[in-house]
Amino acid sequence: MTQIQTELTRVHELRQLLQQASYAYYVLDAPVMEDAVYDQLYRELQQLEIQHPELVTPDSPTQRIGERPATQFTSVRHNIPLYSLENAFNVDELHAWDLRWRRQVPNIDAAEYVTELKIDGSAIALTYQDGILVRGATRGDGVTGEDITQNVRTIRSIPLRLNFDGLANIEKIEVRGEAFLPLEVFKQINEERQKAGEQLFANPRNAAAGTLRQLDSRIVARRRLDFFAYTLHIPGMDDASIANTQWEALELLQRMGFRVNSQHQLCQSLTEVADYYKYWDTERLNLPYMTDGVVVKLNSFKLQEQLGFTQKFPRWAVALKYPAQEAPTRVENIAVNVGRTGALTPLAEMRPVQLAGTTVSRATLHNSDRITQLDIRIGDTVIVRKAGEIIPEVVRVLKELRPLDTQPFIMPSNCPVCGQTVVRETGEAVTRCVNASCAAILKGSIEHWVSRDALDVKGVGEKLVHQLVDKGVVHSVADLYDLTAEQLFALERMGEKSAQKLIEAIAQSKNQPWSRVLYGLGIRHVGSVNAQLLSEKYRTVEELGTAKQSDIEGIYGIGAEIAQSVYQWFRISANQTLIERLQAAGLQFANTEATATVVNANLKLAGKTLVITGTLPTLKRDEAKELIQKAGGKITESVSKKTDYLVVGEDAGSKLEKAQTLGIAQLTEAQLLAILEN
Ligand code: IVH
Repeated sequence: MTQIQTELTRVHELRQLLQQASYAYYVLDAPVMEDAVYDQLYRELQQLEIQHPELVTPDSPTQRIGERPATQFTSVRHNIPLYSLENAFNVDELHAWDLRWRRQVPNIDAAEYVTELKIDGSAIALTYQDGILVRGATRGDGVTGEDITQNVRTIRSIPLRLNFDGLANIEKIEVRGEAFLPLEVFKQINEERQKAGEQLFANPRNAAAGTLRQLDSRIVARRRLDFFAYTLHIPGMDDASIANTQWEALELLQRMGFRVNSQHQLCQSLTEVADYYKYWDTERLNLPYMTDGVVVKLNSFKLQEQLGFTQKFPRWAVALKYPAQEAPTRVENIAVNVGRTGALTPLAEMRPVQLAGTTVSRATLHNSDRITQLDIRIGDTVIVRKAGEIIPEVVRVLKELRPLDTQPFIMPSNCPVCGQTVVRETGEAVTRCVNASCAAILKGSIEHWVSRDALDVKGVGEKLVHQLVDKGVVHSVADLYDLTAEQLFALERMGEKSAQKLIEAIAQSKNQPWSRVLYGLGIRHVGSVNAQLLSEKYRTVEELGTAKQSDIEGIYGIGAEIAQSVYQWFRISANQTLIERLQAAGLQFANTEATATVVNANLKLAGKTLVITGTLPTLKRDEAKELIQKAGGKITESVSKKTDYLVVGEDAGSKLEKAQTLGIAQLTEAQLLAILEN
């Protein structure tokens, strides 16, 4: 064999091994390979592909994450429309559906049903050509959707190549199913959005749909979408030639390498269907993903074909939904909360009520439009619902129970905290306090500044921040750096030692890198990832502050809204003053690489930029960071071309993949320590 032949064989072998390992991990939930071994094989494949770009194929495991974000999605027509399902809300309505379809096919008695969980996500259609994933599309209006192939490729449980073992050679195949976000990921995304001052996703379905329509597939990859397949079609071919029943179709999908929800069941009667529905009514609350009902399908494809479709629905299936978890309660007060961004959020404070296993006593009313829409008043009896089983919301007011003396709620025209006039800009739903020295905004900004992902000032929590602001000791984050131990000691329940420790912790934050300082400033839409991207491109605050809006927008991963927000922030003179004061206090407003090279040229890692990923065998993250910084090295959060070394621990994720793609040198903890000691 020539060398190229040997390499080609190895490429095939590696792809197969990696594909099997991924399948075992993401679909079967039963890993067959150590992560380190996977990484090793992945790297080998990547090296071979770099040497022979002509060998790269779209189904290679290295091709999951696209390099460039899309500028927009193109619309695509579905070969076979994606129908939606008729709803039934109880067992009686299920019987009614059963009678309806039976009337269409006289002389049928026994029929089998397949029951599946109705996953609350977003339907997508996947097209495979000769076994290779060539297109992923959203449902859209059922007839035309959007081409989201790049995003679909990031979903690890979707095979890039089908397993056709023992199957006819099918040219084209379309697989449909539900893309969804596991509840844990959903919660995490909302936490991040809250921190970045962005609006929260109401439920995992919206979050999944929003994620699928993200233009930057790197963001999609980070969000860890998952997928359950539930149907397949072979255009131009009778589906029955490969499967005769829905049950067989699900088995086939599994054999092809898809993740199929394992809770499906074959039922011989409607009684069995009803039992399944009842069982999952409570049991579904223990699942790691959201379900809002059960889908009942006639098992036989022949029968399905006989029945066909109405304008919108198949006649052979029905969605048996669970009623949303709702309960009545009384509104005792409508409070108005002022957040870090100055947004006034009305909150209904209610008599506590049990809902889906938790006690609910507060629900956000979002904004004044929502209040007008609901016409909600103090004293009203309302129905609260847990949207997506997570965030409680008021659905409607029971007007017939309204006491006589209630008044419509009016959003205050003055900030409830500082008393200044509030502003609601035309076209915006949100009312804001724009007084930069409002105590609520100030408290929120300081809490954000000291938070873990920002300046990480240990020991400064909500209570202390409130005291400092309420006592008039601190009027800006910059004042933190003028605090003395005596001032802190004078506060309630503060010991001398703790006061001293806090002063040290505050001083320590001056070593935090520019990206964290930028995040800490709390500019709207600038979460920690965006702060990182911005600080990589603009190496000093002066560069960023004088950048044109269009240039900021040009950064890979930064959108128009973010760019505008950053640009405007720097045009406000109070913000300029804040920067000057923080600079004078000694905070980092520039990447230290250059300084490190000049000043500490003799240090081991002078001028080097390092990223750490995964869990290191002996060092804690902070310890490793400290050692690197002491040796003159700079730590950044994400891998870029400017990264010199990636320090790799166990369970390394996407950073490792990116470093491999960019050909960045890797160090184990032992190697790092060796450099430092030499
Ligand atoms: S079958 C023609 N099966 O529910 C058959 N749909 O309300 C149509 N869904 O748009 C779909 N889990 O997004 C089917 N096991 C399941 C499902 C499911 C969730 C969604 C799907 C569809 C919506 C209809």
